[in-house]
Amino acid sequence: MASMKILTVGSPAGSIRELFAKVKALDAKHGKFDLLLCVGDFFGPPKDEGEAYADDDEVVLLLEGKLEVPLECYIMQGEYPLPAPVIEKFAKTGSALAKGVNLLRVIITPKGLRIACLGGIYDSNLYAASESAHGFTSPYFTSQTVDRLLSNTLTTSKPGSQQNYTSLAAIKANAATSQLVDIFISNAWPSFIAHASDAPLPDQALSSIGVDPVAEIVRRTKPRYHFAVGGGQPPKFWEREPFVWDEDNGRITRFVSLGGFGSPPTEGKKQRWFYAFSIAPVTPDNPAPPRPANATRNPFTEEITRPPKRPLESDEGANYRWGDVKQPGKRSRTDGQPGKPPTGYKCKICESPDHFITDCPDRAKPKEGYICKICNEPGHFVRDCPVKNAVGDTGGRKPKEGYVCRACGGENHYIQDCPVANQPSGGRGGRGRGPPKEIAPDECWFCLSNPNLAKHLIVSIGAECYVTLPKGQIVPTHTAGDHPNAPRVPGGGHVLIVPITHYPTYSSIPLDLSPPIINETDRYKDALRSLYAKHGAAAVTFEVGRLTAKGGHAHVQVVPVPNKLKDKVEATFLDEGRRHGIEFEADPEEALRACEGGRGSYFRVDLPDGRMMVHLFRDHVPFSVQFGRQVLVSLLGMQERFDWKTCLQSEEEDKADAEAFKKAFAPFDPSLIA
Ligand SMILES: *[C@@H]1O[C@H](CO)[C@@H](O)[C@H](O)[C@H]1NC(C)=O
Ligand SMILES: *[C@@H]1O[C@H](CO)[C@@H](O)[C@H](O)[C@H]1NC(C)=O
Ligand SMILES: *[C@@H]1O[C@H](CO)[C@@H](O)[C@H](O)[C@H]1NC(C)=O
Repeated sequence: MASMKILTVGSPAGSIRELFAKVKALDAKHGKFDLLLCVGDFFGPPKDEGEAYADDDEVVLLLEGKLEVPLECYIMQGEYPLPAPVIEKFAKTGSALAKGVNLLRVIITPKGLRIACLGGIYDSNLYAASESAHGFTSPYFTSQTVDRLLSNTLTTSKPGSQQNYTSLAAIKANAATSQLVDIFISNAWPSFIAHASDAPLPDQALSSIGVDPVAEIVRRTKPRYHFAVGGGQPPKFWEREPFVWDEDNGRITRFVSLGGFGSPPTEGKKQRWFYAFSIAPVTPDNPAPPRPANATRNPFTEEITRPPKRPLESDEGANYRWGDVKQPGKRSRTDGQPGKPPTGYKCKICESPDHFITDCPDRAKPKEGYICKICNEPGHFVRDCPVKNAVGDTGGRKPKEGYVCRACGGENHYIQDCPVANQPSGGRGGRGRGPPKEIAPDECWFCLSNPNLAKHLIVSIGAECYVTLPKGQIVPTHTAGDHPNAPRVPGGGHVLIVPITHYPTYSSIPLDLSPPIINETDRYKDALRSLYAKHGAAAVTFEVGRLTAKGGHAHVQVVPVPNKLKDKVEATFLDEGRRHGIEFEADPEEALRACEGGRGSYFRVDLPDGRMMVHLFRDHVPFSVQFGRQVLVSLLGMQERFDWKTCLQSEEEDKADAEAFKKAFAPFDPSLIA
């Protein structure tokens, strides 16, 4: 196939008509171009919910085909969610927003050229914890987004070749699966990109804005051109020297980060916002391209640029919890705290460096004259309407006395009407979901009435709560000798305290019913502390108090840690929390009170010295239910015991542990003493 001439432009951020006019002029002067690639934000920040797009808004004009489109054009998501009308149109057409304007999702192959795309911004906590790829309504990409991109770039035929296979053998011979792409466009920079380069960065801060998942995509897809835009606010232009993939027939990658179209000049300099080039597909039998004179070492394959491996063998040393290990590339937006902008960021609405535009307080105020469609009052958007979720005593069906919503613990509405149960999951908009299905007691892992409950693990049953060993406890029992940090409590000592009645979280237990349950839980905690103390260990307890659509069953986990580590528990939670964007509240008691009555989800830790740590969940920010376990295996140096499923034992071994524990616990067990 002949080569294609491509024009790539940086974020126009909503100046669509102007961009198209400029592109038309460039095309007349330097064209004819085959394709226009628009990197970064094509539309700019979306309007607030409830704020309509005017008929003459460029977004609307574009979607209605009323803007002259100069070239076949591909656009992507940048750092903002896409405008609602764009998402709706995309949902209908699957890609075409207007004639000649296509929204890029993962990969396209116009005329045999392979172009991959990763829109959105990076947040390390969301990235790892999300159970799905977010849609265009979320500004974030997740590990699922990247997995999908990588699996979609997998091809069994070599790029550029279009064989017709006549036999299985022919397919297999060609199934040297390749993920190579010709062009990769991303909003974010890859980590390492500035390594081994002598091309001066326009701003030293850019040396650390790259993110690992983007680097991983580059490493796997070896794009011949990689365009990004996230080079500062406003974005600066930077072109890196090319680098070579020796193992891939001398394949060359060129990285260019573009300035924004129409962005203000920075330091008096207008930043270059477009890049024109020709590219022809590579076929397997192409000769290796000549090595460019200014090619540098490959920053993605050279040893120096590899991220340090997490030490699996930890000891008491300074990096026993990876504290000293620098994690390159994890520092983009989440430098410091989650949801806090990196240095240099300015909210485009109020110019504050302290929050993203999506969190701007000014954004929350509708324009004068806006009337909320739900309550017909001015002053707030539909999404902030105080009676938006009015149910139960204020509107919906009122449940009969004694009913407790299993999602939030409230008593005034059925779970079908519950705002918690109906909240969209992880920013996906939650459209098309039916009413949540409650967990029935016979399906609940923690209800004693569930015939499948692992009763052989139960070690104590009180008046309000029971205590059980978990399946796959953290503490190794039958191989404890291999672990210098293994606590020596008989039967391991890692247990769950579970209220017998099914409530979603401790804080959601109705206040008139909670005192005896909390009292007995505290007595069990005290008893466990005494047992552990006898065996040289201290207690760490934690509760994932998460309100979910299906409703969970409250429980706290209690884990022994050897006395020599008990002073490191708090710091480890803080450190690991920082790495995952999990902050702890300054006033934990107050934070917990704010969740009472099922008003919020939280993560609570009781430290060995009796102090408490509380993290409050944020809307739409997923929380890994395994966070507590993750911290403790890190503290104990037992990272290999992170996944409880790999710690499962035979029923015989479980029974032996339960017996050993019961015997040791008997002198302290409140259900036996009382
Ligand atoms: C592959 O084979 C099909 C049917 O045998 C034919 O229609 C098609 O043109 C072939 N494609 C190529 C690229 O040769
Ligand atoms: C590398 O050399 C090529 C060819 O001379 C040039 O076009 C390009 O701008 C150079 N790149 C850098 C970053 O200097
Ligand atoms: C539980 O309640 C009993 C009696 O009401 C009280 O004596 C005891 O101190 C309480 N225990 C805890 C741990 O709060």
